[in-house]
Amino acid sequence: SFLGIDLGTSGLRALLVDGGGRPIGSTEAHYPVSHPHSGWSEQDPADWVAALDGAVAELRDRHPEFLDLRGIGVAGHMHGATLLDADDRVIRPCILWNDTRSHAEAARLDAMPGVRDLSGNIVFPGFTAPKLEWVREHEPENHARIARVLLPAAFLNLYLTGDHVSDMSDAAGTSWLDTGARDWSDALLEAGHMRRDQMPRLVEGSAPAGQLREDLARAWGLSHPVVVAGGAGDNAAAACGIGAMAEGQGFVSLGTSGVLLAARDGYHPAPATALHTFCHAVPGTWYQMGVMLSATDSLNWLAQITGARPADLTATLGDTLQKPGAVRFLPYLAGERTPHNDAVIRGAFTGLGSGTSRDDLTRAVLEGVAFGLRDSHEALKATGARLDRMMAIGGGARSRYWLKVIATTLDVTLTLPVDGEFGAALGAARLGMVAAGAGGVEDIMASPDVVEEIAPEAALRERFNAAYEAFRAAYPAIRGIQ
Ligand code: XUL
Repeated sequence: SFLGIDLGTSGLRALLVDGGGRPIGSTEAHYPVSHPHSGWSEQDPADWVAALDGAVAELRDRHPEFLDLRGIGVAGHMHGATLLDADDRVIRPCILWNDTRSHAEAARLDAMPGVRDLSGNIVFPGFTAPKLEWVREHEPENHARIARVLLPAAFLNLYLTGDHVSDMSDAAGTSWLDTGARDWSDALLEAGHMRRDQMPRLVEGSAPAGQLREDLARAWGLSHPVVVAGGAGDNAAAACGIGAMAEGQGFVSLGTSGVLLAARDGYHPAPATALHTFCHAVPGTWYQMGVMLSATDSLNWLAQITGARPADLTATLGDTLQKPGAVRFLPYLAGERTPHNDAVIRGAFTGLGSGTSRDDLTRAVLEGVAFGLRDSHEALKATGARLDRMMAIGGGARSRYWLKVIATTLDVTLTLPVDGEFGAALGAARLGMVAAGAGGVEDIMASPDVVEEIAPEAALRERFNAAYEAFRAAYPAIRGIQ
C-alpha cells in the first residue's frame, strides 16, 4: 500500500491506497490557525506532527494493508516559513501562505531588478522570501538562529526521513528558486539575505527524498524499507491526483483559497498578470495558476455572521441557476493575489437594498468568487493556456449551485471526479507510488472517471457577462475609498 498526506490549512488528511492507486481508507485531523494580529496567520508545526501520528495510528488500526506500506508522499499548503535552529528545533510558529504582514518587504523584493525574471513570479506577500525579510527586520534574534528554512511539506519530510528535502513544485513558491532552471538561485537568495546552506536539498516530487526513519518505521509496526517521495505543494499534488499533467488539463479548486490551474508543457512565465508559474511535481513540466485568497473562506464568513452553516446557505438556493441580482460581492476579505496583487484591499458588498435577503447575499458571494476565478481564467488564456474543460475539486465543489455559477461565468464545462474529495492526498500517494517504483508517471497520474458534468447555461451567459463587467469596475472604485 501507499500513503498520501495532505497537510492542509484547516487539517491534515491521510489517504491509504492500494497497489493500483485505489483508495482503501482515509482519515482527517484538524488543528487551528492563529491570527495574533490582523493579517497574521500562523500554525504550530508540532500540531502537524501530532496530526500525522494520530492519522497513521488510525489507518494502521483500521486497515491491515497498512502493514504492507511501500511508499509515502506529502503534499502541503505552500509558502509557509518553518524556521529551524542548528538542532532542527522550531524557532517560532510557522508563518502561513495567507499571512500578509510582509507586504512592504514583498514589494521591495519584487522591485529589485532580475527578481521576477529568475523566479518567474511576482514576489507576493504570502511567499516565503518576504517573510524571512520580515523576521530579519522585526525578530533579529530569531533570524540569527536560522540554520534551515523548510516549507510545511518539507518539515514533514524531515520528520519522516530525518533529512532536509524539498520538492521543486513547493520550492518554486519561495521566491528563492530559479523556476526555469529548477535550482536555488544564488542571486535570489542574496536578495533575500539567505544562504544556500539554509535551504533543503532539492528533488523532483516524484523522486525519492529518502527512506522512512527506522525508529519511526518500527513504531508504526513496519520492518521493511519505505520510500518517502519528494512530495509537492498542495496545488501540484492536486493536479497529480486528477491527472492534470499536460497542456489542456487543469482544475478549479474551491478550498480556503480559490485556484484555477493549468498544466503547461513548457515554462511560460507571465508575472505581470499576477498568475503564478511554478514547477510541476514531475520532471520537465510546469503549471500556471491564478490564486484567490478567500474562496470558501468568503462563504464561511457569511455563514458565521448569519449564524448558518455554509452548506445550509447554499442548500436554500436550490439547484436552478438564477440570473445575477443587484448585489455584487468583492471577495477580498484577506486582500487578493490574482489579478490585483493587493494585500491592502478588503471586501465589499454593493447594491444592497432594503429588500435584500440572506439568499441574495449568498448568491452574491458565490458569484463574486466565480468572477474572481474568471479574472484568473482570462489571464491564463492570455498566456496561451487552453482549458476547454476543468475538473472541480475542493470542499466548495459540493455545492451544485456554485458549480453552475462558475461554469456559466467561465463558459467552461466542469467535471466532477469520482474520488474528488481526495485531490491533493491522492496526488501525494501517487507521488509515493512513482518514487517507490510502482510505475511511471503516465500510468499512475491518470485522470479519474468523471461522475458528472456541469455545463454552462447559455441562456444566462449574457447576464453573467454584464455582472462580471460591473464586478471588474467595482475594484478600482472601492480601492479608491479604502
Ligand atoms: C498557492 C497558495 C494556496 C495554498 C493553499 O499559491 O498559497 O493555494 O497552497 O493551501
